[in-house]
Amino acid sequence: MPYQAIRVEKLTPHIGAELHGVDLGQALDDRTFQDVHAALIEHQVIFFRDQRLTPDQQKAFGRRFGELHIHPAAPSLVEGHPEILVIHADETSKHVAGEYWHSDVSCDPEPPLGSILYMQELPPVGGDTLFASMYAAYEALSPPMQRFLEDLTALHEGEHVYRGRYGVKDEGKVFPKAEHPVVRTHPVSGRKALFVNRGFTTRIVQLQRPESDALLQLLFVHVETPEFHCRFRWLERSVAFWDNRCVQHHALWDYYPQRRHGHRVTIRGDKPFYRP
Ligand code: SIN
Repeated sequence: MPYQAIRVEKLTPHIGAELHGVDLGQALDDRTFQDVHAALIEHQVIFFRDQRLTPDQQKAFGRRFGELHIHPAAPSLVEGHPEILVIHADETSKHVAGEYWHSDVSCDPEPPLGSILYMQELPPVGGDTLFASMYAAYEALSPPMQRFLEDLTALHEGEHVYRGRYGVKDEGKVFPKAEHPVVRTHPVSGRKALFVNRGFTTRIVQLQRPESDALLQLLFVHVETPEFHCRFRWLERSVAFWDNRCVQHHALWDYYPQRRHGHRVTIRGDKPFYRP
């Protein structure tokens, strides 16, 4: 599609583009905003280099796309900015955010539309993030399998991911869970995307437990197909903006004990639906 205010460099046939000519620290004029939005819808994850963002500027950029989401479990670490999720790893880390394939907080009844990660500190090498197109994953399935999945819903749970994770007291805390269609229709593009992920999806509701486990395992492995992916090599002050409605991501933790640090702003989404 033609872009008027920006240059768009496609990274792979299925997913990912680097955008040039945008300063995210400035208020975007309407033409630039429309181009960035169109690029997100077309390429599913978009990347920007050489940005300088304060928390307020990052939040202002996110708010052009919708209301901001506050994480249901992670403590707020940037004073005065509960909407900023700190992504941090160092020699003391036992886990890092997103070290498995997932779509952010898909256990929410209304999972996030998208996430904007601004990277501030990187290891000397490593710490790339992989992104997978769930359109490509759905479209690569055989028509009978697509039809079978389209009638199913799945349970997504936060409990096993978040409990005890953040070093804060969480006895008695109730973590989100939700039932979503296994194939969802993107509300803007109208395309169909596979919507189960290894991080949060625990059960296909209509199947018996062994059937559900086997099918989920098949789908989780399918998502790992390299042709559906792009791999982003971060530089300091790079930004990645992904559409959680049609993308999964996996943050590689191949740099322990080095440090990696960034800020994520997450945009609230709506209830997933399937439309034939
Ligand atoms: C996440 O938001 O899941 C982490 C992504 C990353 O650290 O690259």
